[in-house]
Amino acid sequence: MTAPLRSGEPIVVQVALAERAYDIVIGRGLIGSLGTRIKALRPGAKVAIVTDENVAQKHLATAEAALDAAGIEHSAIVVPPGEGSKNFATFEKVCEAIVAARIERSDLIVALGGGVIGDLAGFAAASVRRGLDFVQVPTTLLSQVDSSVGGKTGINSRHGKNLVGAFHQPALVIADTALLDTLSPREFRAGYAEVMKFGLLGDAAFFAWLEANWQDIFAGGQSSGSFAREHAIAVCCRGKAGIVSRDEREIGERALLNLGHTFGHALEAGAGFSQRLLHGEAVALGCVLAFEFSARKGLIAAADATRARAHLEAVGLPTQVKDVSGGVPDVDALMNLIAQDKKVKRGKLTFILVHGIGKAFIANDVDPAEVRAFLTDKLKA
Ligand code: GLY
Repeated sequence: MTAPLRSGEPIVVQVALAERAYDIVIGRGLIGSLGTRIKALRPGAKVAIVTDENVAQKHLATAEAALDAAGIEHSAIVVPPGEGSKNFATFEKVCEAIVAARIERSDLIVALGGGVIGDLAGFAAASVRRGLDFVQVPTTLLSQVDSSVGGKTGINSRHGKNLVGAFHQPALVIADTALLDTLSPREFRAGYAEVMKFGLLGDAAFFAWLEANWQDIFAGGQSSGSFAREHAIAVCCRGKAGIVSRDEREIGERALLNLGHTFGHALEAGAGFSQRLLHGEAVALGCVLAFEFSARKGLIAAADATRARAHLEAVGLPTQVKDVSGGVPDVDALMNLIAQDKKVKRGKLTFILVHGIGKAFIANDVDPAEVRAFLTDKLKA
């Protein structure tokens, strides 16, 4: 972790991927510079903005005004909000609308929204005319720290999430931290789970800083003049940029980013990918379970698991299975969901476990019977 910011200048984090390298620009009010930044990136380009109905209501006019001010020709493609739009029918509509807007190889797609829009618009950009460049303008905390960076794009199949897609890196990410002011407290908190995940997986100093400063991140510097939010987003983006530049295709260490996701996905699927348990809430709960499972296996002191859990509790994120409203499926169903997600290889499961706070590792020899016994106890707790 580098020292926290003291000025309001935008922070630039580079994702070092040779000819596909790109910048992540982080700062308050950056959407106003969308036009000038796009003009500098691709002079003369036309733009098609892909967004959803909710984000369009809040931020589309501002984005369009910024493009107008820079003299950039633009059109907008607006889809329904929610995970349901990551389907073939919406993907087809977006691709056809991009073609109808006469977007050529020298033009740009702008993904204005959260993770669903980034995944959908990114995959459409990867597909139309065999690949168009795209710019991510993430509007949720979760997408600013995680899903707008890294190049995984895609839609869901009837067999599962994100099964159809492409690696397609954005050409630029613009993270305007003021856009997060319009999120509901619950949605902001759910995104925070991915922030603290970066501390838990590889940066103990950042986790300690979060324990002391999380309230400033939530406040967003409007009254306090603090740049805690921008600093936290930059630390996460630097962490992810480093991992992605070393392991773009997830052959090795990129899997560490899945800390909390194996237990989390099973619980999220068990809750029907619904409002009962948001993705970030599932990750929070999944991180606590990964720490508690590591403690049970003797890999860490129980105090580390208690510390991780105490921070999430302080923030108001779920930390126990009983916190999931409407309950979760039984242990057989959860084990089936885990096996589907991870595939059992030679009778063993792969999990991201920890040797301490900031010390995640890939454990590819986890005995399913141990996981079952652990979850059985957790479901009773
Ligand atoms: N787009 C999310 C990722 O690449 O991790």
